[in-house]
Amino acid sequence: MKIVIIGAGGRLGAALVREFGAKYDLAGFDHAQLDLSNLHDLREKLGGMNFDVLINAAAFTNVDFCETQRDQAFLINAEAPGVLAEICNAKDAKLIHFSTDYVFDGEKRAPYTEEDQAKPISAYGESKLTGEKNVLAADERHLVVRVSWVFGPDRPSFIDAMIKRARENEKVDAIADKFSTPTYTQDIARMLPQFFDRGVEGGILHFANAGKCSWQEYAQWALDCCERIGVSLKATTVGACKLTDMKSWVARRPVFSVLSTAKYTELTGTPPRAWREAVTDYITRFYSKK
Ligand SMILES: NC(=O)c1ccc[n+]([C@@H]2O[C@H](COP(=O)([O-])OP(=O)(O)OC[C@H]3O[C@@H](n4cnc5c(N)ncnc54)[C@H](OP(=O)(O)O)[C@@H]3O)[C@@H](O)[C@H]2O)c1
Repeated sequence: MKIVIIGAGGRLGAALVREFGAKYDLAGFDHAQLDLSNLHDLREKLGGMNFDVLINAAAFTNVDFCETQRDQAFLINAEAPGVLAEICNAKDAKLIHFSTDYVFDGEKRAPYTEEDQAKPISAYGESKLTGEKNVLAADERHLVVRVSWVFGPDRPSFIDAMIKRARENEKVDAIADKFSTPTYTQDIARMLPQFFDRGVEGGILHFANAGKCSWQEYAQWALDCCERIGVSLKATTVGACKLTDMKSWVARRPVFSVLSTAKYTELTGTPPRAWREAVTDYITRFYSKK
């Protein structure tokens, strides 16, 4: 099976390249090698290649910049995925495209299912939702995987920033009134091959580690894990702050965006592992020697 990964330099894309490199005939493109905003280049470069699965892990992910660079956000997150889907159609290949919990408005207080209506409250969310629609309009057998709060060793995320702050400062705090679920890139990479076959499930699929938490709970667990393995910290308790304290944020963010993984569990017969277990695994593996 030949696989092409776009976004190979990103947090998720790099994890996918590492996980699949030994098992599949793989080609990866980072931003410098393939620019999603150059639709002509996309058609030229990918149109001339042979592959069975195209994975798009690239996106304009800076939520605040998307608000002020709306056209660029829509070009990269919405228009380009539609072009990728068309390229795949011409080859009878499957597109696996990543999307986000930020397509929801966050007003629900139970996990969002694939059937729930998406109502984004930011340009990022709007552009990602339009991208999903463009992919599935080209062929509903393509797969859109929505993930939340992605973390992993290939690019620092919230969890790494919190650990860094706790190592350098006596006092740290994190938002206590915003809820979703962390998702480990390694767990995404391990589950994804079940969906490579074009005959297998298309449409929208939610994937995240199991459970839910606030950013404060997430950060506290990360510090607890660090303490347990002997990482020296100046702060060991995470204080609470509010979403409304984040005065520098330009874009609105959903306050509750937990993704239901019931469909994933039903399809595969295996639930994702709990977020605490995934975070423990990550910290034990990548912080032990630091
Ligand atoms: N991170 C999260 O918490 C989160 C949550 C929900 C959903 N997601 C989704 O998960 C997917 C993977 O995100 P991630 O966490 O891996 O984010 P990431 O680390 O920001 O990776 C995105 C990658 O896309 C690349 N990229 C940006 N603009 C591009 C362009 N015009 N052409 C080609 N490549 C471009 C970036 O390259 P440069 O850095 O060089 O620009 C980066 O390597 C995305 O679809 C994202 O929307 C992420």
